[in-house]
Amino acid sequence: MSQLKIILAWIILIFTFALCIGSVILILSPMLTWFRKAPYVPSFNSHLKLIKDHLTLTSWAKLLDLGCGDGKAMRFFYKEFGLLCEGYDLNPFVILYGKLINRRKGIRNIKFVVSNFKKAQLHKYDYLYMYLFPNQMAAIEDWVFSNIKDDAIIIANSFKFLKHKPFDTIRNKKGQEIIRLYKK
Ligand SMILES: C[S@@+](CC[C@H](N)C(=O)[O-])C[C@H]1O[C@@H](n2cnc3c(N)ncnc32)[C@H](O)[C@@H]1O
Repeated sequence: MSQLKIILAWIILIFTFALCIGSVILILSPMLTWFRKAPYVPSFNSHLKLIKDHLTLTSWAKLLDLGCGDGKAMRFFYKEFGLLCEGYDLNPFVILYGKLINRRKGIRNIKFVVSNFKKAQLHKYDYLYMYLFPNQMAAIEDWVFSNIKDDAIIIANSFKFLKHKPFDTIRNKKGQEIIRLYKK
């Protein structure tokens, strides 16, 4: 009987510990990138649907998601267009979560890198996808345009670059520009 109590006490202790760790991760995870003014917000389904309905992308081409979060957009590009996707994100917790989702869905060929996306070798990719805030778009504009391949296509969700004009845009039903496509 007393042994049962000890086992019960251990179970409660482990459960409480796991709960505490989980809560700390939940609180710290958004803070990790929030303080850089770069919070994690996954692409909206309605925006991804616009891409699906309007774009034709070459399967087996390589796509880089700059700030991939849990990989929602990469799973979309993989599933809808057969692209080989790689994503960089500073936040290890959202990447861990993304890897768990991919494992559960049996998706193997999406690569996550926990790192600043400035370490990515942009010339390796045919497509670049980004869903980043305006301050970040401005901060990376020169770096992106001087390092992508000549024929690479940039798919920018919601926010635009300041110095470059898109060669095409996709609007939602309200006529708002949502997706902008850029080339060098
Ligand atoms: C708005 S979320 C977009 C997530 C994903 N691309 C999607 O569309 O579902 C932006 C992500 O960019 C990441 N991020 C911001 N600055 C970054 C940087 N310099 N290097 C890597 N990741 C960054 C944030 O951690 C955040 O997860």
